Amino acid sequence: MKILFATQNQNKIEEVKNMLPSGFELMGLNQFNFTYDIPETQPTIEGNAIQKANFVFNTLKTPCFAEDTGLIVPSLNGEPGVYSARYAGPYRDPLKNMEKLLKKLSSEKSREAYFETVIALKYGHKLETFVGRCKGRIAHEAKGSNGFGYDPIFIPEGYDLSFASLSKSIKNKISHRAIAMSKLIAYLSE
Ligand code: IMP
Repeated sequence: MKILFATQNQNKIEEVKNMLPSGFELMGLNQFNFTYDIPETQPTIEGNAIQKANFVFNTLKTPCFAEDTGLIVPSLNGEPGVYSARYAGPYRDPLKNMEKLLKKLSSEKSREAYFETVIALKYGHKLETFVGRCKGRIAHEAKGSNGFGYDPIFIPEGYDLSFASLSKSIKNKISHRAIAMSKLIAYLSE
């Protein structure tokens, strides 16, 4: 089965490719000459995933799935949450985002955090969503060079190393995105 992943984020494409079982083939927007900026202006992670899937479906008239992810830190009232990408400003700078989060957490007792991914699948008149969460904590400093975004400061539950220090295959088994993807794959396999 061929499925279109409605994202312009190459990191996410690479991760998701490595999660697909045999029998599934991932298509990207580059195969469709897609040059628009996908809007992402909703106040929730779920709202953004749905907005992205609807936009690409309506533009290309092709079934697709989109995803949105946020890092949630309960002791900071859920920050950075839906604003994870632009936490430190409009330039989506991962180093500045991590710096800001580490600074804000320096006076907090709890460093508990979780990633949440919502995948929205749009086909015909139907829309389905799939949620994946990965619990962990925020490290005191950034470490590791795998992955992307907040991976250098996120230590998943059950491990002592950040996602960026763990192997890609471990992240791809336990991550928020892996959990949401496994639900999508189960749904498509029904
Ligand atoms: P978006 O889903 O592309 O809007 O991403 C939101 C923010 O979370 C961006 O800063 C991403 O870099 C970051 N992000 C998304 N997924 C991950 C992940 O798996 N690990 C670390 N950071 C992530």
